[in-house]
Amino acid sequence: MSILSGKNILLGISAGIAAYKTASLVRLLVKAGADVKVVMSPASLDFVTPLTLSTLSKHPVVSSFYNEDDESAVWNSHVELGLWADLFIIAPATANTMSKMASGTCDNLLLATYLSAKCPVYFAPAMDLDMYKHPSTAHSFKTLQSFGNIMIPATSGELASGLVGEGRMAEPEDIVSFVENHILGQLPLYGKKVMLTAGPTYEAIDPVRFIGNHSSGKMGFELAEVAANLGAEVILISGPTNQTLQHSRVKIVPVVSAQDMYEQAHLYFKTADIAILAAAVADYKPKEVALQKIKKDDSTLTLELEKTKDILASLGEIKSNQFLVGFALETHNELEHAKAKLKRKHLNLIVLNSLNDKGAGFKSDTNKVTLIDAQEHITEFTLKSKADVAQDIFNEILNQIHA
Ligand code: CTP
Repeated sequence: MSILSGKNILLGISAGIAAYKTASLVRLLVKAGADVKVVMSPASLDFVTPLTLSTLSKHPVVSSFYNEDDESAVWNSHVELGLWADLFIIAPATANTMSKMASGTCDNLLLATYLSAKCPVYFAPAMDLDMYKHPSTAHSFKTLQSFGNIMIPATSGELASGLVGEGRMAEPEDIVSFVENHILGQLPLYGKKVMLTAGPTYEAIDPVRFIGNHSSGKMGFELAEVAANLGAEVILISGPTNQTLQHSRVKIVPVVSAQDMYEQAHLYFKTADIAILAAAVADYKPKEVALQKIKKDDSTLTLELEKTKDILASLGEIKSNQFLVGFALETHNELEHAKAKLKRKHLNLIVLNSLNDKGAGFKSDTNKVTLIDAQEHITEFTLKSKADVAQDIFNEILNQIHA
């Protein structure tokens, strides 16, 4: 999943030959999961047809305040469009349009929308090399950047005039990755690695049976999605679960047993900045795993169990700068037990779930948690969806790592 997924993106097209590339740009933005609307300058209609762009964007394309041929036509509101957009990309941005943007001229719908938009504005210049170098154009670049607009620099190459030089609009793929990287770069966990464990573990009894538990993995998967949307690179070590997550910044490492999870956690912990252990790891496993299916020959069966390794505690022992978060599921003396766990396992934060709270626990979509930090500050939350709980946990982590 791209960081652009779910975003409202307004594409403004001005009249340059590079406008023919905007069909691909719309296609790529839609593919990245964005909702795309297009506003064109009237002169750009000579370079690419609204029909192509409305078909690709699945929205009507607008280029004037109203349709002169249709008396019943509605007024195209630049204010509404500007407010709708989470991002405004002007590509191609011609010398003429940039100069008007810089001076506040708004003699068409695209420019009026530019003046109304409150969202981040990106512009991708496109023109011939001498126009690109002209001091007047350089002045527009500078003025627009001083407004906080973000320039997607043109590249060098063969231009429509046949001349070779700077002025070619960035390719649609490069525009998309420029915008993605720019958004990511501003996110609070960009450049950080987050390691998570999630789900149950299965401890084999024989080739067909195991000891497991009812953990759905949902809490860990929600945490992974929040971390990725905050810009982190996420490693999600998950026991067997039905949860799915497709996000370009999340790598899922599937494991089965507590020993597998232990090994993978130790592998990825070294380079992690934040580690959150949300898995419901089996505390005991069969001492011997039968090589063949155990037959029901006897009236009783005794399994000898031995302790699994405590992954969280073992990471607490070796941690250097990692911010380490554990979970505690308690039934009585909850705060005391959770505080003791926080100390014993050398954690920075512990997330306490009480089994006494209705709607909290393994299979539910909701959770009610209390966060306790290393200074034993306690923050209680109300019953929320696990997605909101994940957000609360990361808000607290961000507070702590920036404190
Ligand atoms: N945990 C782990 N490895 C284990 C057992 C637990 O990493 N073998 C982690 C869990 O992912 C969770 C935390 O430890 O983050 C709390 O687990 P829990 O089983 O409640 O704690 P224990 O310290 O084992 O205490 P007890 O079961 O006695 O309450």
